[in-house]
Amino acid sequence: MNATSASIPVIAIDGPSASGKGTVAERVAAALGFHFLDSGALYRLTALSAMNQGVALDDEVRVAEMAATLPASFHDGAIWLAEENVTDAIRAEAVGEGASKVAALPAVRAALLDRQRAYRQAPGLVADGRDMGTVVFADAAAKVFLTASAEARAERRYKQLIEKGNSANLPALVADMQARDARDTARAVAPLKPAADALLLDTTHMDVESAVQAVLAHYASCMTRSKQGN
Ligand code: DC
Repeated sequence: MNATSASIPVIAIDGPSASGKGTVAERVAAALGFHFLDSGALYRLTALSAMNQGVALDDEVRVAEMAATLPASFHDGAIWLAEENVTDAIRAEAVGEGASKVAALPAVRAALLDRQRAYRQAPGLVADGRDMGTVVFADAAAKVFLTASAEARAERRYKQLIEKGNSANLPALVADMQARDARDTARAVAPLKPAADALLLDTTHMDVESAVQAVLAHYASCMTRSKQGN
């Protein structure tokens, strides 16, 4: 980070999978005219590349090399690996599982660090992930830890899958959600945990719009406080 980027505000939104943070983060970014970083997509792209090329997901050296040189881009409302539109492919459950595995490798996390920080551009950035407020943007202007019960998150994922015409099994989704939370929370590097100065937002009984308003209000109050110098 340089002196210029340090002055660009970041809103860090972390939380477990299917907490709704992606949707909330995108809407907050749109409301403020800020850039948006879906950091989970970078882990998913890394896992998809490794799976496509037959690289074992626990081969830390090779997976980290792939992460460092990932031909990934976000444009035209889609996510690309070189010329291939992988927007839907990276959302497959198997790729999510793979992403959770490669995300536990320290060299992979290190390889993605600069790439994530490069998204910090004027007028501001909303970054969505697991360690945005604790590691990648520890100096973020506002931090939110967005969560919901495993049951509520599994139900949201279930509805999404059914709407897209896929079959889904609710008890299996609850179990997957709990297993992934356990792995993301227990890993040694950048575990899933709220930053000490994060606002905890439990959206179990909250709709998307109320969550967006709560994040915007938190950001506004953080900016007012920092202008007052405390
Ligand atoms: O948010 P998501 O479900 O797309 O993330 C996919 C996986 O990547 C998830 O298991 C946790 C991991 N991840 C991470 O470790 N750090 C991030 N900043 C974002 C995602």
